Amino acid sequence: MIQATPSGQGLGARVDNIDLSQPLSQEQYKTIEGLLGKHGVLWFSKQTLTSAQLKAFSSTFGTLEVNVANMYQDPGIPEVMILSNKKVDGKPLGLADAGQDWHTDMSYSKMIAFTNVLYGLEIPHRDGKPLGNTEFSNMRAAYAALPDELKKKLEGMTVLHDFNKFWENMRKQPGCTRPPLTEAQLKAKPPVSHPIFLTHPITGEKILYANPGYAMRINELPEKESDEILNFLFEHQLQPQFRYRHLWTVGDVLMWDNMGTIHNAVADYTPDEHRFIKRCQVMADRYFPLAA
Ligand code: SIN
Repeated sequence: MIQATPSGQGLGARVDNIDLSQPLSQEQYKTIEGLLGKHGVLWFSKQTLTSAQLKAFSSTFGTLEVNVANMYQDPGIPEVMILSNKKVDGKPLGLADAGQDWHTDMSYSKMIAFTNVLYGLEIPHRDGKPLGNTEFSNMRAAYAALPDELKKKLEGMTVLHDFNKFWENMRKQPGCTRPPLTEAQLKAKPPVSHPIFLTHPITGEKILYANPGYAMRINELPEKESDEILNFLFEHQLQPQFRYRHLWTVGDVLMWDNMGTIHNAVADYTPDEHRFIKRCQVMADRYFPLAA
């Protein structure tokens, strides 16, 4: 039987007694879905998966997205994206700087994301410690801890999210090789708005749905006030008591609830310290069919 052990931090749990290379029963699916809603981040150790098995496990939870940047896919399986700083004959094997700042995946999309599933195949180490950790913060706890007047003021308001904000911020980092998005890519992902507070479709709890990576402004407020409140929210949502930091081990499958968390891939390793991770992005179309 599946067993979950909470991390003891602001979110996250280790899940044991399941082999993700095998198809999930309906009961296993419901258990994992419930655990994701409850803990926000789950990790499964010592997994051995082909890309096809990673895709099959991930697609149990919803439709898989093929990334708009469209450049770093597993050959033959476009739903499996490669996150890596490795190169072969000088050519990058994957996207080297994915997620290296706080964000929520796909908040810039009309159909938001449910979960990301990452499978760690090479993890850099220095002095015996893993590098390239993935950090999370709990947006259910962040909502609950907001001052009541702010909750009241912002209720019913919406936030504009833009894919190009994160992309351009990454392009400003030293050594970044991301080209500017093409007109076609920009057209494929125009900015979109979502409620600033979402009701979580699994737990029914309210969550703060605004992240520094993609959130541009609160539509219903004047620009200056929107900037001030967003800056407050971006600081508020990263308090240490809301956080969990995943220290990778090869063979880990890490999955998280994108609606109830924000995350950051810690960029503390050099080009010679290799990281190689496969990733599937699962959309929330099962929970919000009208937005599909
Ligand atoms: C992501 O943002 O999906 C990447 C996270 C990571 O590489 O740790």
